[in-house]
Amino acid sequence: MATDLIWKSGKLEKTYNLNRLRTTGIFRAGPILRFPDIHSINYDNKPSSMIDTRELTKSFRDKKRGEIRAVAGISLRASPGQIYGLLGANGAGKTTMLRMLATLLKPTSGTAIVAGYDVVQEPEKVRANVGFLAASTALYGRLTAREMIGYFGRLNGLDDGAIKTRIQVLADQLEMHEFLDRRCEKFSTGMKQKTSIARTLIHDPAVMIFDEPTLGLDVMTARAIVKFVRECKARGKTVIYSTHVMSEVEKLCDTIGVIHDGRLLTEGSLSELRERHGEQDMEEIFVKVVEAKS
Ligand SMILES: Nc1ncnc2c1ncn2[C@@H]1O[C@H](COP(=O)(O)OP(=O)(O)OP(=O)(O)O)[C@@H](O)[C@H]1O
Ligand SMILES: [Mg+2]
Repeated sequence: MATDLIWKSGKLEKTYNLNRLRTTGIFRAGPILRFPDIHSINYDNKPSSMIDTRELTKSFRDKKRGEIRAVAGISLRASPGQIYGLLGANGAGKTTMLRMLATLLKPTSGTAIVAGYDVVQEPEKVRANVGFLAASTALYGRLTAREMIGYFGRLNGLDDGAIKTRIQVLADQLEMHEFLDRRCEKFSTGMKQKTSIARTLIHDPAVMIFDEPTLGLDVMTARAIVKFVRECKARGKTVIYSTHVMSEVEKLCDTIGVIHDGRLLTEGSLSELRERHGEQDMEEIFVKVVEAKS
């Protein structure tokens, strides 16, 4: 994988070859932890996909419902600088899919390679390179946003200097300065969500997984988060983004995958989907694709 890291310290910018870091063992030990001031990863040399799933499947056993195939053989890929939108109705399997990518659930069968590591074989390495924003992320009410984010920074092995720098960057990007030193217990839904995003991404992971990040947010806050996700893409991050908001996938996603009953029914860029399904509007495409399978 011929990929370079750009390491920014003030004005100094150095470029490292990942292959060399790997052979010295530094990369394997976790580049984010060792180099907390990594600014971005330059993927101009185009490495292979950062997310690569093959026939990924998750079944649950439920006493009343029997076996539930929440994810039934999904194969998808996402590359650096790409936003992959997973679009599906309630119960489609989005959260289950994302939880497997984030190593929180073990697949029943199939494989998932995330940031070059197998989610089952090397879950710690996957976690070091992934930030997962779950649909409901709890915050400790007694802590301020800064304390909360810092706490997760320490859990991720960052030192105080790196935490301070990262909080500054994230608070700038997410427009959090006004409430950064206030306790989480009195936060609005939007403030909570911004704090959750910041704590999820404190270690500046290469892969960002967002499960319905704008759910329940007002228009302005939702826009701020969409803008933030776009900036992550511009910095070469791989983003996988689940939603059932059509306008968001239209505006944001490079690739859209429609998921229904645990299966990927169609996948492509918005223009590819428009052409394939003969509809302009994403909602019409979605309904057409889902109804054809029902
Ligand atoms: N732990 C579990 N045990 C049993 N069934 C589960 C479990 N988790 C999810 N399921 C089932 O798997 C299916 C997919 O659920 P999932 O939460 O992945 O859907 P989703 O697309 O995220 O839906 P939503 O939009 O409502 O968040 C559903 O039928 C759900 O009831
Ligand atoms: Mg869900």
